[in-house]
Amino acid sequence: MTAKTVAKPSHREVNGSAEISLNDVARSYAGRNGQVQALDGLSLHVGAGEVVAVVGPSGCGKSTLLELVCGLQSPDRGTVSAGPAVLMPQRDLLLPWACALDNAALPLRIAGMGRDQARDQARPLFEALGLEGFERSRPDELSGGMRQRVAFVRTLMSGKPILALDEPFAGLDALTRQDAQAWLVDALTAQPRTVLLVTHDVEEAVVLADRVVVLSPRPGHQIAALPIALQRPRKRTDPALVALREEALIALGVDR
Ligand SMILES: Nc1ncnc2c1ncn2[C@@H]1O[C@H](COP(=O)(O)OP(=O)(O)OP(=O)(O)O)[C@@H](O)[C@H]1O
Ligand SMILES: [Mg+2]
Repeated sequence: MTAKTVAKPSHREVNGSAEISLNDVARSYAGRNGQVQALDGLSLHVGAGEVVAVVGPSGCGKSTLLELVCGLQSPDRGTVSAGPAVLMPQRDLLLPWACALDNAALPLRIAGMGRDQARDQARPLFEALGLEGFERSRPDELSGGMRQRVAFVRTLMSGKPILALDEPFAGLDALTRQDAQAWLVDALTAQPRTVLLVTHDVEEAVVLADRVVVLSPRPGHQIAALPIALQRPRKRTDPALVALREEALIALGVDR
């Protein structure tokens, strides 16, 4: 009888890497009405510096995928390996009592940096993202779009090479959202990172990503991948972009 080698399910953080690899991943939860299979048979590779958008129906395991990549969860089956990754959750989770600059500098403070030095490191990004003059404002004094930007600066300040962004612009009105997409493109041009971006907005996915990955309904696995080989910044009215958006919608089953 030959011995069969079955890879043990695992999450591995690979120092010095900016890549993400998931291989045949499954993850379920024990719910009140029994087991919920969130992901099953998900394989995905994201290269260093690549921006990949993930779209899929509600509950198909997108947030679970991001938590797996960040090592906040482990798979039941399959393997996840990724460089150091930071999660930007959907809700901005800013500290209400701290000013915007201190909120943004928080990862540096946690890493042991002194207050003035941490503030000095966060300040240039405030200027770059149009937050100049609001450094000392508290979160409740900022608009929704500004709070998202502060949360994004904080995500960048972690210094991690991989950003896992969970619906970072949800809840913003259409214009603020377009604005936010533009500053994300600018920020990534200035400081390239590997990005895994979960969004419900297919247009946002094709505007921002190098590749759009479409997940099936739960249990989530990849059913389509669309490379977006268009230069940035992209025009929403570009017929090539409109066609890719249609293609993604058809893959999602939202055929209209
Ligand atoms: N801690 C948990 N306990 C039980 N079930 C969970 C838990 N977390 C997620 N689930 C279930 O697993 C499935 C996948 O959840 P997940 O949050 O990853 O989906 P999602 O694609 O991010 O959904 P949405 O688009 O609504 O944000 C859902 O059915 C959800 O109810
Ligand atoms: Mg989610």
